[in-house]
Amino acid sequence: MTVDFAALKSLRDAAGDRHILDLFAEDAQRASRFSAMADGLLFDYSKTNIDEATRVALFDLLSVAGVAEKREAMFSGEKINDTEGRAVLHTALRNLDGGPVYVDGKDVIPGVRQTLARMDDFADRVRRGTITSYSGVPFEDVVNIGIGGSDLGPVMAYEALKPYVDGPHCHFVSNVDGAHVHDVLSGLNPQTTLVIVASKTFTTIETMTNAQTARDWLVQSVGEEGISKHFAALSTAKDKTAEFGIDPDLVFGFEDWVGGRYSVWGPIGLSLMLAIGPQRFADFLRGGQAMDTHFRTAEWEDNLPVLLALVGIWHNQVCGYATRAVLPYEQRLLRLPAYLQQLEMESNGKRVAMNGSDLPFDSGPVVWGEPGTNGQHAFYQLIHQGTRVIPCEFMVGRFGHEPALTHQHELLVSNCLAQSEALLRGRSLAEATEIMKKKGFEGVELERQARHRVFPGNRPSTTLAYEQLTPFVLGQIVALYEHRVFVEGVILGINSYDQWGVELGKELALALQPVLAGEADGAGKDGSTLQLVDYLRIND
Ligand code: F6P
Repeated sequence: MTVDFAALKSLRDAAGDRHILDLFAEDAQRASRFSAMADGLLFDYSKTNIDEATRVALFDLLSVAGVAEKREAMFSGEKINDTEGRAVLHTALRNLDGGPVYVDGKDVIPGVRQTLARMDDFADRVRRGTITSYSGVPFEDVVNIGIGGSDLGPVMAYEALKPYVDGPHCHFVSNVDGAHVHDVLSGLNPQTTLVIVASKTFTTIETMTNAQTARDWLVQSVGEEGISKHFAALSTAKDKTAEFGIDPDLVFGFEDWVGGRYSVWGPIGLSLMLAIGPQRFADFLRGGQAMDTHFRTAEWEDNLPVLLALVGIWHNQVCGYATRAVLPYEQRLLRLPAYLQQLEMESNGKRVAMNGSDLPFDSGPVVWGEPGTNGQHAFYQLIHQGTRVIPCEFMVGRFGHEPALTHQHELLVSNCLAQSEALLRGRSLAEATEIMKKKGFEGVELERQARHRVFPGNRPSTTLAYEQLTPFVLGQIVALYEHRVFVEGVILGINSYDQWGVELGKELALALQPVLAGEADGAGKDGSTLQLVDYLRIND
């Protein structure tokens, strides 16, 4: 059944410009009543304008949309990605000790465990130096070549878990811009470098082009005969990895029921596993699995993915706030906003509902962000004083990994809390006037100066707090966001697991390349494109 946001919009209209601070004044328990915990993660959404009646109306959406039934359909391997006829089973990749999961009558779990065991063994032996390069020396560097989900998951997690890295250094090449592969490879020794080609389809033009460049670079040093020792592949397309010449023993396969942006949990996570080791990788999986169990079993009011989704729906579809900022106060989560951009925007950026009709409301929001405190000195100006409201999602850990720098961690945490407090509280004209009066301003100039220093406040934010960014906690956070996307997608009635919107640009790029190379004319192209081709063409 299609959901309807009318009741929620009436509640929003009735609330008018009610201040969130008033909700705290009315209810001394608001902070705890509008928060929930899952295995050590605290999600606080009390600094939003959601009150009890709104929350009840938001929970109503879950039954109308059939979230509980669809959740079970996903976990049990039903083909819920119905525009591609596929199951959605990234959860099976982290199902370390659960029961069987069937796709087309076949239990997929034994295959998952077998591949994980092969990855463990490979990673272990590379890390111990018993799998060596062609010249017989241990690998010191790993280059993961992939893009989108075959890049963002591993690079995000590798950066996030740097304190746990005790294996080879990992490097990531994604962009088809030759500058990327050039800059990465030029700092490395081919004799001690393992190249991993990560591509679900093994057809992605960026990845295949960069893989060929890396191959040429390796051949110059280890020769054709050494190549097979220096390449591994992660893909669903074993025929294509063989065509590329990759040793089948170094191919780690997965199935089409793992979406690219959900794939870090399996073979696509191999670079991460090489860096942190199989045991810590298993901790990462366990964190994801713990969030799966929580999502399947917790009541709605305690269910973190559900709460994140409902807050998201409230802000985007009901209040009309078109973007949301993800603001981790954790430098090592610097790639998380980019990761979440793909996860959320490629999943829920759809204008057609599951049944083919036009979506009667807005699709998922624009997601963006940057770690704090850096963002504070860049774009927070607009968040505090711009004309648009941008819901902010803060994240912060109780402990860092630098015991000698606890004072810096306290500064980090206090900045995080201060930002959400400032967004909530704001600064009134009277307060700003008082401050400027003390600085000696008076009359018309006093008012003018004071007005520039007013913060409207009443701006919503949520905070996700955790003990420390360990592999387990990272697993929890990533799975939390995955399930949040699922719940939002179910409420919106869209298919979160296809990505047709990326296809047209790919097709046009393929057709434009010969035009740029002067091998085809630009018949049928618009004037602007032709003018730009003319300017950018190298061979006239
Ligand atoms: O173009 C989008 C996309 O298909 C993403 O969904 C995917 O993560 C990325 O390209 C890379 O795809 P592949 O792993 O098949 O190379």
